[in-house]
Amino acid sequence: MAVVTGASRGLGRAMAVALAEAGADVALASRAKVELEETAHQAEAHGVRALVLPTDVSDYAAVERLMGETASALGRLDVVVNNSGIAKVAPLAEARIEDWQAIVGVNLSGVFHGCRAAAPYLIRQRAGKIINLASVLAAVGLPGYTMYAATKGGVISFTKALGVEWARHNIQVNAIAPGWFVTDMNEAAFADPKIHERLTRDIPARRTGRPEEIGPLAVYLAGPGSDFMTGQTIFLDGGHTAA
Ligand SMILES: NC(=O)c1ccc[n+]([C@@H]2O[C@H](COP(=O)([O-])OP(=O)(O)OC[C@H]3O[C@@H](n4cnc5c(N)ncnc54)[C@H](OP(=O)(O)O)[C@@H]3O)[C@@H](O)[C@H]2O)c1
Repeated sequence: MAVVTGASRGLGRAMAVALAEAGADVALASRAKVELEETAHQAEAHGVRALVLPTDVSDYAAVERLMGETASALGRLDVVVNNSGIAKVAPLAEARIEDWQAIVGVNLSGVFHGCRAAAPYLIRQRAGKIINLASVLAAVGLPGYTMYAATKGGVISFTKALGVEWARHNIQVNAIAPGWFVTDMNEAAFADPKIHERLTRDIPARRTGRPEEIGPLAVYLAGPGSDFMTGQTIFLDGGHTAA
């Protein structure tokens, strides 16, 4: 069974539904209960169980409860997708301390919380899969995204180090670094044709990703086919970082 954070919409919902379609029971976490219930509805259509567990991933005690409730309700904990993320676009000289703390709290501490709270379950069973969400912006600089980029670079380093540390426990830790996918996080920016043109110009595929294009990669990283892969970050970006 798989815990997916940030499952209320966007890429998290797409990965949760893809994992359900592949046969996994899912525990769905984020703050918005009603939207999580919609994801649960879509997951259950594939004949699996879906738990709705509203959680703020920046709060460690809440994430510990999430893992405990999931393990007791679904019997075990196999996969954790640390997907919750926020962005605040601002030139660094105008950035507010509260924004920095919020971005670090969700994007970086949220990943630490998910891994730390899942550790006792995964290590005890000597098996598990962690999938963290990084970003192309960890590899490519873009004005206005300094704070966000720093957290995503941190996710890549965290994933590499934990992949090495937990190899001895047979737990694989990998990251997906998406390029641009139009979701709630950025749709206001993409609605501006000039910004749309500016951002897709950097993508050799000349388009943004579709949320359903991330599901198969999550299923691969959650399943036995990826047992020999750990500590890696896979860029799913239409060639953006290869160009
Ligand atoms: N879209 C892209 O182009 C893109 C590119 C690179 C990387 N990414 C990464 O992919 C992940 C998903 O992004 P997305 O595009 O799907 O964004 P999105 O549509 O804005 O969804 C973000 C998710 O994070 C959850 N979230 C935010 N704050 C939270 C908190 N404090 N506690 C728990 N959950 C929280 C939101 O749920 P609630 O509001 O219900 O809490 C929502 O489910 C993020 O890590 C993002 O950085 C996205």
